[in-house]
Amino acid sequence: MSTKKIAIDGPAGAGKSTIAKRLAAKLGYIYVDTGAMYRAVALSCIRAGISTDDEAGVTAQLKNISIDIAYEGGMQQIFLCGENVSESIRTPEVSMGASNVSRFLGVREMLVNYQRKIAEKHNVIMDGRDIATKVLPDADAAVFLTADVKERAKRRYDELILKGDNVNFDDVLEDMKRRDKNDSTRANSPLVKAENAVLADTTGKTLDESEALVFNIIREKVGEF
Ligand code: DC
Repeated sequence: MSTKKIAIDGPAGAGKSTIAKRLAAKLGYIYVDTGAMYRAVALSCIRAGISTDDEAGVTAQLKNISIDIAYEGGMQQIFLCGENVSESIRTPEVSMGASNVSRFLGVREMLVNYQRKIAEKHNVIMDGRDIATKVLPDADAAVFLTADVKERAKRRYDELILKGDNVNFDDVLEDMKRRDKNDSTRANSPLVKAENAVLADTTGKTLDESEALVFNIIREKVGEF
């Protein structure tokens, strides 16, 4: 029997991962956070002293690394050469680095292959930027989740402050705008809404409201739950 595939794409801070995680638990699917994979590539480059803007350097680094995911208590953990880097990839430096390395075709090819293999074996809710357009064009349901950039920046800022990071709002907002531009204007698999994706705008909505909105779209498309 073929597996079920649900794609959630959208810009940074739209609430993709929080909503996808909750819905995966509700539906009994696995949640695949593809951004974590781009972040792990960026982290390995930063650690190795390779600029995340250097296509040849980044592409060469791919041969030295392995990236794997596993699940602990339903939570995705990401491993870089066997080391669990799930926490270390959540920094502003790695966010920008991930946006940079994700422009390169070699990086995308390696990660997209891995993502497709996971979706062949499991029912998935996968989130990212190119899931409906590239990774799973045959997804059973596709959602394009977005919100006003200021609101997305505020959510990200609150998350970082809660973690104890010393950040200021204007920097987070500027980073988010830069990433939006980077991610949606790149040549390879830019962030765009797929034709078959349903737009879900969470501006002004609580998390519960946003989750319900996405759940209803999925239920209608998949015809289950
Ligand atoms: O979702 P995130 O913020 O963790 O993603 C980090 C970066 O990785 C994002 O700025 C763009 C890139 N990315 C991508 O190009 N394609 C994906 N499917 C997921 C993330």
